[in-house]
Amino acid sequence: MKNYDSDKLIEEARKARVFAQAKYSHFQVGAALLTEDDEVYTGCNVESSSYSLTMCAERVALFKALSEGRTRFKAIAIVAKDGEYCPPCGACRQVLFDYAPDIDVILTNGKEKQIYKLKELLPHAFDDSNLGEK
Ligand code: THU
Repeated sequence: MKNYDSDKLIEEARKARVFAQAKYSHFQVGAALLTEDDEVYTGCNVESSSYSLTMCAERVALFKALSEGRTRFKAIAIVAKDGEYCPPCGACRQVLFDYAPDIDVILTNGKEKQIYKLKELLPHAFDDSNLGEK
């Protein structure tokens, strides 16, 4: 069991969601990634008129953290609209797995929360070992 406050992390994700750039889908997402030493890196989705260039909230949070030298993580919280859980997309599951395979993934519908291990959400993942690296 990891030591962190999931409700606090959800609150950080909720705050980050306000900044979502979602003018095409109107689906706003916020994420908050907790480092091993309890720093929080947040992200929101950023959409492009060339739709496939859109970046999800989770990867924004992860890339912010990695680009500032943070490489060890405990958990990520993801918040979208009230009433609905927002499980991370397949692309985010893969990239999170590449850098934070042991994290908890915290989802909320605004009232209740669900906590998964990333490994549960991406079984039989492709990883470094498939590239023939150690
Ligand atoms: N989105 C995220 O930011 N995270 C997810 O886990 C699912 C989808 C974004 C991408 C796009 O801007 C919008 O939600 C609709 O797919």
